[in-house]
Amino acid sequence: MKENSGADLWRKAKKIIPGGNQLLSKRSEQFLPDYWPAYYRKAKGIEVWDLDNNHYIDMSIMGIGACPLGYADPDVDTAVKTRIDNGSMCTLNSPEEIDLAEKLIRLHPWAEQVRYARCGGEAMAIAVRIARAHTKKDSVAFCGYHGWHDWYLAANLADDRNLDGHLLPGLAPAGVPRGLKGTSVPFQYNHEDELEAIAEKQEGRLAAILLEPIRDHEPSAGFLQAVQKIAKDNDAVLIVDEVSSGFRLMTGGAHMLYGLKPDIAVFAKAMSNGYPMAAIIGKEEVMQSAQDTFISSTYWTEGIGPTAALATIEKYERCNVPDHLFKTGTAVQEGWRRVAEDTGIDIEIGGIPPLSHFSIKGENGLLVQTLYTQLMLERGFLAGKSFYACYAHQNKHVKSYLKATEDVFEHIANGLDNGTLGEMLKGPIVNTGFRRLT
Ligand SMILES: Cc1ncc(COP(=O)(O)O)c(C=O)c1O
Repeated sequence: MKENSGADLWRKAKKIIPGGNQLLSKRSEQFLPDYWPAYYRKAKGIEVWDLDNNHYIDMSIMGIGACPLGYADPDVDTAVKTRIDNGSMCTLNSPEEIDLAEKLIRLHPWAEQVRYARCGGEAMAIAVRIARAHTKKDSVAFCGYHGWHDWYLAANLADDRNLDGHLLPGLAPAGVPRGLKGTSVPFQYNHEDELEAIAEKQEGRLAAILLEPIRDHEPSAGFLQAVQKIAKDNDAVLIVDEVSSGFRLMTGGAHMLYGLKPDIAVFAKAMSNGYPMAAIIGKEEVMQSAQDTFISSTYWTEGIGPTAALATIEKYERCNVPDHLFKTGTAVQEGWRRVAEDTGIDIEIGGIPPLSHFSIKGENGLLVQTLYTQLMLERGFLAGKSFYACYAHQNKHVKSYLKATEDVFEHIANGLDNGTLGEMLKGPIVNTGFRRLT
């Protein structure tokens, strides 16, 4: 394997930054413990150069879904640089906030007002706060992942103290006040019966129902409509989390594809191509409750986020980016299926095409997954169990990636036959992160 100063720096990082960095999904242990390059010197399009100038093609998570146009997109960066040259922060407000609000409302005609934040999790916490302020109730029912904040982790304060953390493996609720126990209750996607039962048990205490409109599975017939009805019947605010699904299946929220008219929708990640930005959009009557509580932060007013979002959304519309993401993701999923069949490696494929993933079945699944990342890295690809499509991914990249995947799967199949898999792996086996509920 090539020289890798990043792996050394990662070891140092873990001594002075608890966990090594600020995001579970970008920890080296999630990809290739001891050997992942960990740090980048430069990223452009889908090309990445590590600290030793090793060059890779990124066929993995593209900044964990934050860059659907590709890294350092020229159109977005030109707009951002102009904003920087004219001052990104000021005593006065950034007028791009208004342009962006009008744009988001035009894309989502059911919505009338907009607030901003900079990250997905904090934007979801704002949405929950608005819902609680609006309904003057406390409980929320949710499915899926929505961030790190207390309202969400409270779900892991299971009834029995010994069960702390069992609900979502790996997400420990230490530090979350036990007084929040019972305020956040999970249900499974496509199981409206579970939501119905929660609503009944809460006896009128539900302030909000939260879910991603789509993630791994298509909504089953009538599911989203049933959720909407349960929200209405219980006077609960319906919040759709579009932090990951938004702007990938269409320019705007995926809920629009299903005719869903929520009370609030939350966007982040894909809306601004790598620059921190998040939006909470909603019906005026509900959004006005933001005035009854205190929701305010200095850096929610800087100008780069809304400028980047406007340029990003404009490019999605001009270049029909969601169509490209769908076709690219579909090609990758089909390629995985074909290569797995040809080589006899047993895999399971999931996710909407722009956010595709596969897992390797069998008792050696995690070992094989780690080995896959190691062997792909040796062939010049950042590759793991997920492939997040971006506009800079072209057919030629998909082709060369699938060719390398085929080669690697053949090696792995031989290793499985010969019982030499363990010897092929140079470091420890990958860690598994949390499991999503959708
Ligand atoms: C659906 C969903 N909601 C919320 C979040 C949290 O967003 P952030 O990491 O920007 O806080 C994520 C992140 O993966 C997500 O996928």
